[in-house]
Amino acid sequence: MQLALAPLQTYTDYHFRNAHQAVYGGVDKFYAPYLKMNNDGTIKSAPKIDVLPVNNPLAQVVPQLMACSVEDFFIMADYLEELGYTEVNWNMGCPYPMVTNRNLGAGILNKPDDLKRLLDAIVPRLTMRLGIKMRMGMDSTAEILDILPALNDYPLTEIIIHARYAKQLYNGGCDHAQFANCIALTKHPLTYNGDITSAEEFEELQQLFPGITNWMIGRGAMVNPALFEEIKTGRFDDSETYRSRLLVFTDHLENSLVACNPDKGYALSKLKSYWEYLADELDDGNKLFRKLKKTKTLSEFREELLVFMD
Ligand SMILES: Cc1cc2nc3c(=O)[nH]c(=O)nc-3n(C[C@H](O)[C@H](O)[C@H](O)COP(=O)(O)O)c2cc1C
Repeated sequence: MQLALAPLQTYTDYHFRNAHQAVYGGVDKFYAPYLKMNNDGTIKSAPKIDVLPVNNPLAQVVPQLMACSVEDFFIMADYLEELGYTEVNWNMGCPYPMVTNRNLGAGILNKPDDLKRLLDAIVPRLTMRLGIKMRMGMDSTAEILDILPALNDYPLTEIIIHARYAKQLYNGGCDHAQFANCIALTKHPLTYNGDITSAEEFEELQQLFPGITNWMIGRGAMVNPALFEEIKTGRFDDSETYRSRLLVFTDHLENSLVACNPDKGYALSKLKSYWEYLADELDDGNKLFRKLKKTKTLSEFREELLVFMD
């Protein structure tokens, strides 16, 4: 079984990935949120910095990019290759209209001819390994039934499927029946992704898809960073241990954020965004998060956490 941490832009950045490795276990593969181009032909700086090897001293991450032209694809892929990466993941999953309207992210999924044209131009030139992370379609999960056979023509390392269609955004459930149909349609290693939030749910999915060995978890791990361990070992921390590890995790996050940007306001606002998820797993977490949101300094933030955890 292989468990991967999903890329979540602004959340599963190197601060999160490194802190997670310092405190928790169970992740076999980390994915970095996507690189994207600015309008002036340069790569956006935050994700560029996120994948620097110096910021990723622990497990090697799989970087991701989002492109809808051969030129942009190679500007980003070449950057990653120069940094020493040997594999890149192509984002065909981002569902937001301002992205998909430009054929980026999931916007390519309902244009199979464009997708093939891009792959035909990119694959022969690319010296890195290529994987794809995708939704099941733009307007319906049925679109994937045509896409997967077409992707068999290319040497992909993997296909990660978030089992929703793009127009759903994050609403509604994942389409498990359609995911089951996908298994026979691809020759590539397949990863299931979508709504795994507990070890129990994971087991149900495992029973549903017994042949699937690769799994990716995003929001479930933002809420409960111990989820990978829980799935792998079947052991659960008692409430006190769970909370004290969260505090240590927060220390690691804070130290990394302050080291990256001495403006303490930056660290505070990032900690608040991580804790919007982390608080969800705790009894009275909503109350805690309301208090954390109001804090004005890192020490106030810590104080609120300590009072709550006491
Ligand atoms: C805030 C946020 C940011 C995301 N950023 C990315 C991203 O950079 N690249 C990507 O492929 N998917 C991204 N996703 C999608 C997740 O990787 C994942 O496919 C999706 O959340 C479903 O998995 P989950 O239910 O385990 O969270 C993002 C999702 C969220 C909620």
